[in-house]
Amino acid sequence: MFKKLVIASSNAGKIREMGGLLRDFDFELALKPPELDIEETGKTFMENAILKASYIATTLKQWSIADDSGLMVNALNGQPGIYSARYGKTDFDRINRLLTELKNNTNRQAQFVCAIAIANPEGEVVIQTEGICEGEILTQVRGESGFGYDPIFFVPEFKQTFAEMPPDLKQKVSHRGKAFANLIPLINHLFDRNIFDRK
Ligand code: IMP
Repeated sequence: MFKKLVIASSNAGKIREMGGLLRDFDFELALKPPELDIEETGKTFMENAILKASYIATTLKQWSIADDSGLMVNALNGQPGIYSARYGKTDFDRINRLLTELKNNTNRQAQFVCAIAIANPEGEVVIQTEGICEGEILTQVRGESGFGYDPIFFVPEFKQTFAEMPPDLKQKVSHRGKAFANLIPLINHLFDRNIFDRK
């Protein structure tokens, strides 16, 4: 029966992160082989997550989980969105480009989005879910922790940027934390229907 879950990413950080988030389940997590390239041709985070999970599942004939995330800025019509990772060469370049494009725009509303999909070995998506974290883009960086756009993403409810938050708080309030919180009852439901084996 099913126990192995292949993460549709070759990023070693993902296995640690997902291992922690899915610790209540006895999954045997593995990364996809690096030579298995996936083109992210979807138009939304969810399309990309589905595309990655289905492709890895059908190619390896294994269950697969994929996530796709990024930052959507309202005044930039949702950009960088699915292009968040490709918006510049380094985190520094990406942040600078975003701040330059926003200029003095007073509409600083933005949201981080994380989409997650799980596909069975036939490539059928059995779970899809999403988490969103609302925030504002600052005019300059604040905070030292985290990665990516964290230093300019301010969460009004906590009066802190993602880069100022202790990691456990970011994990709780972030788009990824919320997506995984939504995911857990959906996985439990599959176990209850004996689609997954708890043993
Ligand atoms: P991925 O889909 O998780 O690989 O994320 C794509 C890109 O979105 C990353 O390279 C980052 O630029 C950005 N991103 C996603 N999540 C976060 C976050 O929690 N903080 C900062 N940037 C993020």
